[in-house]
Amino acid sequence: MRVAFVGKGGSGKTTLSALFARYVAARGGPVVAIDADINQHLGMALGMPQDALPRPMGAHLTEIKEYLRGDNPLISSAAAMVKTTPPGRGSRLLHPGDPDDPVHTRFSAITPDGPRLMVTGPFEETDLGVACYHSKVGAVELYLNHLVDGAGEYVVVDMTAGADSFASGLFTRFDLTFLVAEPTRQGVGVYRQYRDYAADFDVPVAVVGNKVHGPSDVAFLREHVGDDLLVCLEHSAAVRAMEQGRPFTLGDLEPAGMKALGTLLARLDAQEKDWWKFGQQAVEFHLRNARAWANRATGEDLAAQVDPGFVFGPTRVSLPR
Ligand SMILES: Nc1ncnc2c1ncn2[C@@H]1O[C@H](COP(=O)(O)OP(=O)(O)OP(=O)(O)O)[C@@H](O)[C@H]1O
Ligand SMILES: [Mg+2]
Repeated sequence: MRVAFVGKGGSGKTTLSALFARYVAARGGPVVAIDADINQHLGMALGMPQDALPRPMGAHLTEIKEYLRGDNPLISSAAAMVKTTPPGRGSRLLHPGDPDDPVHTRFSAITPDGPRLMVTGPFEETDLGVACYHSKVGAVELYLNHLVDGAGEYVVVDMTAGADSFASGLFTRFDLTFLVAEPTRQGVGVYRQYRDYAADFDVPVAVVGNKVHGPSDVAFLREHVGDDLLVCLEHSAAVRAMEQGRPFTLGDLEPAGMKALGTLLARLDAQEKDWWKFGQQAVEFHLRNARAWANRATGEDLAAQVDPGFVFGPTRVSLPR
């Protein structure tokens, strides 16, 4: 199951991504935590020393593409593979519960509490957007498009702030999106924007209230978010202490915080996977991308990369050529 943490800058995406990843790992689930934000802080939030961070995926796109395209005859070269190029017959797929492939082994590192960390590497504002051929965050889109994950396997992605994710199809690559909102007008403003865009693509969103101080904050969120409000996390002294440099393990988190993390996991586990929709949208965004800039950038008609006989998901059955 894949989940994204999105929300306004500073709302707590990184903090909650890291807490959630630690929580899931403590329950034994294999979990891959991916830092897809401009400012790369997820490693730190997972207690990873700076010198132990994994190789950044965004700096090795060609190598990743070369592996993923395998011997898919519809993808002529790594250079012709863009961030939205969908897998087809012959492509190599990735399994978070069986991470022996070169993408996981070369571009991830195990953090002290168990989550496996992958990072895009830092990027500029100009790396964002559909027009960027070398987009570092495109590494995450490629990763997720080639990932076959099942129940009990987790991928947690710490996303860029605000609605930047709409510039590509990345926001449709998740089973569930947790929108982190502080109980402020700006916090719920980002929620409304995200909700409206997500609804057009049938993307399930649940709101996680964060840094909440008391019942009036909860009431504010309830008033503006309604039933989309899943749970609230209080302002945590343990998280603040960690920010001040105190060593932190999950056991230091207040009981209410632990309970909230349990609610997030139960919500994610209850989400039904829809591989059909996933495949449809992979193709839809690829065709869009091809028309918008990728055909021009590669000098090929990238619509031809779509393999109509490829079945997304865990099934091994795909149409013979
Ligand atoms: N529940 C919490 N209790 C106490 N402090 C919190 C909580 N959640 C987040 N913080 C603090 O708020 C600040 C912002 O959090 P964080 O970096 O996770 O936000 P972000 O959404 O990832 O920000 P950015 O948009 O810059 O990536 C940090 O100092 C973090 O420690
Ligand atoms: Mg962050």
